[in-house]
Amino acid sequence: MQLSPFAKIEAAPPDPILGLTEAFNADSNPNKVNLGVGVYQDETGRVPVLATVREAERRWLEKEDSKSYLPIDGVPAYNKAVQGLLFGTNAQVIAQGRAVTVQALGGTGALRVGADFLKRFFPQAKVWISNPSWENHRALFEAAGFIAMTYPYYDPVTHGLDFDAMMNAIREIPDGDILLLHASCHNPTGVDLSEAQWHELVAVLSAKQIIPFLDFAYQGFYRGIEEDAFAVRLFAQSGLGFLVASSFSKNFSLYRERVGALTIVTGDAEESKRVLSQVKRVIRTNWSNPSSHGAQVVALVLNDPELRQQWIQEVAQMRERIWKMRRLFVEKLREKGVGRDFGFIERQNGMFSFSGLEPEVVDRLRAEFSLYIVRSGRICIAAMNERNIDYICQAIAKVLRS
Ligand code: LMR
Repeated sequence: MQLSPFAKIEAAPPDPILGLTEAFNADSNPNKVNLGVGVYQDETGRVPVLATVREAERRWLEKEDSKSYLPIDGVPAYNKAVQGLLFGTNAQVIAQGRAVTVQALGGTGALRVGADFLKRFFPQAKVWISNPSWENHRALFEAAGFIAMTYPYYDPVTHGLDFDAMMNAIREIPDGDILLLHASCHNPTGVDLSEAQWHELVAVLSAKQIIPFLDFAYQGFYRGIEEDAFAVRLFAQSGLGFLVASSFSKNFSLYRERVGALTIVTGDAEESKRVLSQVKRVIRTNWSNPSSHGAQVVALVLNDPELRQQWIQEVAQMRERIWKMRRLFVEKLREKGVGRDFGFIERQNGMFSFSGLEPEVVDRLRAEFSLYIVRSGRICIAAMNERNIDYICQAIAKVLRS
């Protein structure tokens, strides 16, 4: 028989985040907890379908009158709503036609379309990502053909930002390169720049020719929908050209619907048209045109004043529950006799905290307690609830003690 053409292909290593979910799903321990992937779960451990999403789906089911293709760049009402959410409805950048938005397959799809677009026009550029960053950033930009470099970000001693080191490195980045930033709720550390630090960064970038690319996947999970857009709006007001990858996976709990967007801020309306035409070429050669359902749901909610208000409340509930779990987690660890100070977890933002748990500890937690954590020590606080918190803290206490 002929040898299969694929016979010599070696197995790839499991994905550092989604591979954990695969292992978790195969684990038969009834006490298992998945603190790996960034998915919000409610107090009962369910990944909720938001009430506003259910209502929008009901309305859309009645309203939808065709299954024909969407435009290459997606649902127009969705793209417009995304811009309003990013920049504020009355933002100058929108009125001036300086922003172009295309629908994308989640935040990852937005990053990839952005990366492919940049590679086409800036083939020599290198991409600078924070140390550490989301595990998929490097892989994604390398897959698009870039060399990925890192700039300092997290200080393991203070469990905070090493802003001086970050700025010193950014000042040295050659013009023409790409700088990837997390606009809010840094993944994996939960450590963000303060407003004053964002101002300082923008001042430095304004004197250089670097292309900023803001990854913005957690709008609403730190302080609020409007508040979390601070950095994006500051960049827009500064007159810089930049890209934003945004996502509704988390704040609409629409993970599997893959609803994201790539927005590019240009110099003027005429430039925007040219840029859009090129981004559409990138999409056409990737997925041709996007799927409809999730974007229609988001557009419906955001364009209906009542539903929008209700959604803002739903996001607030998720956010407040995560803050509550941060406090409880720190408290319970103390209660269980853990000597190490985990107080910094209350100062980190969004879904994740960088726990400082070493890879050997993470491995033991998985082997002995079916507690799944990314090997970097990143913990998804949004997967904790009052039912599993004792088990989680007990397991950590036992492993740290022995
Ligand atoms: C995460 O970081 O866990 C999420 O963004 C899910 C993913 O795609 O990795």
